[in-house]
Amino acid sequence: MILLSVVIENLKEAIIGESTAVIKYRLFAEKAAKEGFNEISKLFNAISTAEAIHIKNHLKAIEKITYSTTDLNSFVKIDQNKIRNSVEGTRENLIQAISGETFEFKKMYKAFLKTAKRNDTYLAEFSFNLARNAEIVHNKLFIKYLKKLDNNEKIKDLDIFVCQICGNVELGTPPKICPICEHEQIFFKKFIK
Ligand SMILES: [Fe+2]
Ligand SMILES: [Fe+2]
Repeated sequence: MILLSVVIENLKEAIIGESTAVIKYRLFAEKAAKEGFNEISKLFNAISTAEAIHIKNHLKAIEKITYSTTDLNSFVKIDQNKIRNSVEGTRENLIQAISGETFEFKKMYKAFLKTAKRNDTYLAEFSFNLARNAEIVHNKLFIKYLKKLDNNEKIKDLDIFVCQICGNVELGTPPKICPICEHEQIFFKKFIK
């Protein structure tokens, strides 16, 4: 029997991971812009906003499960310097992002999902599931851009849309229905710097 407290701790750990990603991707975006990779910069910034949606969803799950409000600052302590020191060149940053997303969907969220299969924590299960599926998309997009960079291919200046419900990210045009959370197109917001 998995304890409720374990699920809450996992939600908090996920929030810490997502908070780190929000900052990291913003710094990677700055670096890419400095190196003249404007489209990669835009992707990092857009995905940073998607990770913030996961934080919001996980927090909501904690509050609904515990019937109390939760202050993010009480458990999210981010070492900004450590993140700053992890910034490399854009190619390496893309590789770091791919490895981070892969860890999240293959290991972290997969493990957390197993612990959340309790009747009273279905909101945690739901939130982990949305985040996990969005990370799979983020990972694919980073891989796509890395390949283009390695092939010296010009990356098109496409609009980037972020689903405000689940953090799914779509290039070009948003789908009629979000394939991850099944919300309508209207929930996709065009990312503007
Ligand atoms: Fe992600
Ligand atoms: Fe969605």
